[in-house]
Amino acid sequence: MAHDDRLFLKAIRQHCERNGIAVELLAEGWLVMMRQGRQQHLAFGYDLGINSAVAHRIANDKSATAEMLALAGVPAIPHRLFLNPKSKEHVPSPESWDTMLRLLDQNPAGLVVKPNEGTAGRSVFRVLSRPQLEAAVAEISSLGMAIAIAPYVEIEEEVRVILLDDAPLVVYAKRRPSVVGDGKHSLLELATAAVPEQRSALLAGSFEDLDRTEFDAIVPAGEQRLLNWRHNLDAGARPVLLDHGETREICVRTAVDAARAINIHFASIDLVRTGGDWKVLEINSGVMMEELGKLYPDVVCAAYGAALDRIFNTELPR
Ligand SMILES: Nc1ncnc2c1ncn2[C@@H]1O[C@H](COP(=O)(O)OP(=O)(O)O)[C@@H](O)[C@H]1O
Ligand SMILES: [Mg+2]
Repeated sequence: MAHDDRLFLKAIRQHCERNGIAVELLAEGWLVMMRQGRQQHLAFGYDLGINSAVAHRIANDKSATAEMLALAGVPAIPHRLFLNPKSKEHVPSPESWDTMLRLLDQNPAGLVVKPNEGTAGRSVFRVLSRPQLEAAVAEISSLGMAIAIAPYVEIEEEVRVILLDDAPLVVYAKRRPSVVGDGKHSLLELATAAVPEQRSALLAGSFEDLDRTEFDAIVPAGEQRLLNWRHNLDAGARPVLLDHGETREICVRTAVDAARAINIHFASIDLVRTGGDWKVLEINSGVMMEELGKLYPDVVCAAYGAALDRIFNTELPR
């Protein structure tokens, strides 16, 4: 998508037009300058410039976030940091490798190995064996990124809360793509028929998660098969808005605790239910809602509008 084609920009433009705020785009639409009277405010990428630089950096860092949340007593999935090995072969130091192997031994359901500062589910691997661990570590290291390792947990539900201070602006569940067998068609046939508009995303993102030997096997009638173990919207998951209910309440409460723990004001906070308990998986400081906006553009524009209201009503004029 072209940078100046983003719903993020459309929302800013719409809000600013309605409120007499001048908007100027720089850096191919990546940098937005807003001006009202003597007040000037900048947005960059998907960052509306509400959070402190330190809160932004902690949120971007999965292991720093997990440590801060543990310290504050907020339930969270632990993420252990391994710095990027500087060797050309992308091999971790013997001490790091020993620790990784110990983690693998301690977690029979496997580990999730991911870039410590990654997004959109890119290079997120589930590993169950030493060779898989080695391959995941080499892949992420070759991108020049530090690694975060978490125990793999069965996720019963994943929810995202977009928070502005203590107020939830949007809360939605992410439903992974799945198919139900009819006793006649193969997994591949069912998957391509079920989500044709997401075919390329699926082929790129999630079919790799399926066991290829199962592609051509007929799925028994009534049996449900997930097409992806990850909940990223870019990889085919579908957002379902939660307007009320117990799940929404507990997720908002936990998200508010998490935001306070790292002193972040505008963020999108992902929570997972595992073994019946809700835990924070990650916090994103850049609030990106392009995928959600394909289904709910008005909800997304209203959320960015609320954040812009806060900026232009509460900041003192310079
Ligand atoms: N420890 C874990 N156990 C099970 N699934 C996980 C775990 N960590 C991540 N996932 C799955 O992978 C997806 C992407 O991981 P995440 O940590 O959110 O990385 P990213 O920032 O790239 O989105 C999550 O939405 C979740 O569905
Ligand atoms: Mg994520």
